Amino acid sequence: MSRNVRDEINSKLNIVDVVGKYLTLKRAGNRYIGLCPFHNEKTPSFSVTPDSNLFYCFGCHKGGTIFDFIMEIENMDFPESLKFLAEKAGVELDDRSGISSPDRKKRDALKELYGRVAGSLEFILENRNEAAVARDYLKARGLTDEIIKEFRIGWAPDDRTWLLKFLKTKGYSEKFLAESGLFSQRGLEYPLFSGRIMFPLTNTAGDVIGFSGRTLKDFGPKYINSPETPIFYKKKNLYGLSNSIKAIRQAGYFILCEGQMDVIAYHQAGIKNTIAPLGTAYTSDQAMLLKRYADKAVLSFDGDAAGQKAIKKAIIINEGRDIKTKVAVFGDKEDPADLLLNKGEKALHKVLKSTINSFDYILENAINVSNIRSPEGKEQIIRLMEDYLNSLSSEVRRAGCINEIAERLGVDSSSVQKDLRRGPGAPERNQPAGQRSNRQNRLSSELFLMIAVVVSREEFTWVRGRIDIDDLEDERARKIFIALEECYRNEENGIDSVLNRLADEELTSLIAEKVTSEEYSINTEELIKDSVRKIKKNSLLNKREEIVRKLKNISSNTESGVNEKDLLSEKIYIDQEIEKLRVGI
Ligand code: UTP
Ligand code: MN
Repeated sequence: MSRNVRDEINSKLNIVDVVGKYLTLKRAGNRYIGLCPFHNEKTPSFSVTPDSNLFYCFGCHKGGTIFDFIMEIENMDFPESLKFLAEKAGVELDDRSGISSPDRKKRDALKELYGRVAGSLEFILENRNEAAVARDYLKARGLTDEIIKEFRIGWAPDDRTWLLKFLKTKGYSEKFLAESGLFSQRGLEYPLFSGRIMFPLTNTAGDVIGFSGRTLKDFGPKYINSPETPIFYKKKNLYGLSNSIKAIRQAGYFILCEGQMDVIAYHQAGIKNTIAPLGTAYTSDQAMLLKRYADKAVLSFDGDAAGQKAIKKAIIINEGRDIKTKVAVFGDKEDPADLLLNKGEKALHKVLKSTINSFDYILENAINVSNIRSPEGKEQIIRLMEDYLNSLSSEVRRAGCINEIAERLGVDSSSVQKDLRRGPGAPERNQPAGQRSNRQNRLSSELFLMIAVVVSREEFTWVRGRIDIDDLEDERARKIFIALEECYRNEENGIDSVLNRLADEELTSLIAEKVTSEEYSINTEELIKDSVRKIKKNSLLNKREEIVRKLKNISSNTESGVNEKDLLSEKIYIDQEIEKLRVGI
């Protein structure tokens, strides 16, 4: 791919602006810090350095370039991130920019396939006689023709041979179809969906990337969902998001429900800031995605026991992403779709008007299942609140909640606090995933040098005149040397281009860490010279040792005199070089 496009984009964009769109950054010396968007934390360990245009999180150790950041946070591949940032930078991409990587081609082909299938299933639902049963079903559930169109609902024919026949006439290869996620692993004779009402799942751009299919029968799984494919990640997509983004932005909050029928019901009632997870539990990745559009949420789950559990989990996930959350209360076994059908739009609006805040919800629930008057009951209530309290990002709010609990239980807050500290479940706060300890912090002098040169690129000309790849033993240092040499020959400047050529996540993160921690910002030139001397000397001593060994072998079997001469002159040369190093270069 054209190095210049990448370089150009990188040089035109400031990482502070790029990252600043997703989180709040505060200046701290030469860098900017904020709460890491990639893991759950309460004190900022995420930093960006405008000098190098790199980011690094000291908590979860993710780090890299603006491209790495965008790929991670927007869930894009490299060509997509390039396109995304090119637009921001006002750089024109041409055909040489590598946008059509094989991965990208496959993904485009899958999107085209799913889009086409969705269109056909829609057509079948609307027009075919065999779909009458589905049309009747949807009508009975109160869905209008408009909403069916809006959500592109379709019907997968009962006939299991239909899909394959249809797609073959369109020229798709069997190999491609077998990997498409539309057929069972058992073979192309087994389409995943038949005799089901089909709900297309879309990405934020509105492309169809999968399906959820509901049966009309009383047996078998009620819903079947598409498997994950290169275009569909369950954890990072939400049902209805592409239909809801605008409304979520406008309202400043999103309504999270359990299933697609609920989402559709809300939309039909004119409440369009509504989404649902796709056949999975709500995830932190989904919360992060939603946080882009709004930082407040209303949970709209069933009122039954399972629903209550799900609410508590969702509250904790949202707290982890700093999303202020309220709960809409439904009766047992009553979901938004039922409510709309049975009691009409007004009832739905009414439920939304009387939401309760997440703390009150969790406290009331804990009290409901415990005997608040007994000491054991009080202890249990605290245990039930524990996960929630630990998820709060603000110490002040946590303290406020503890005071309220204490008041409610009729005990003093210091004993609540003590119980929480002693608690069996009490996790170490502010400790992300605990990877820190097994991360190697001591670098070999070779790796140390190569990272220093990445930081001070202008030194490479000097360094490559003194040592070459054969002087390096450390595999990682060799990799960096090669990347630096490639950049040097292609006249690419900037850390970004080295990281690009390295294409190594672990090294990228390591380099980002070192750059960000500013370990190399003082006396870099001196550090580099010292290391080069040390490495060169080491390498020369190794070579000398080998020659001495060879010389010994030769004298013991007295054969080729020529070879001995060569070896001797090489030894003399090496001794001179070592002497030079001693004096200084
Ligand atoms: P529900 O069983 O509450 O379904 O599951 P629902 O939304 O009320 O559906 P209707 O009203 O009966 O048509 C909630 C969600 O869990 C997922 C679906 O996303 C569903 O919307 N689910 C449920 C599955 O993925 N598979 C299943 O077999 C059941
Ligand atoms: Mn339902």
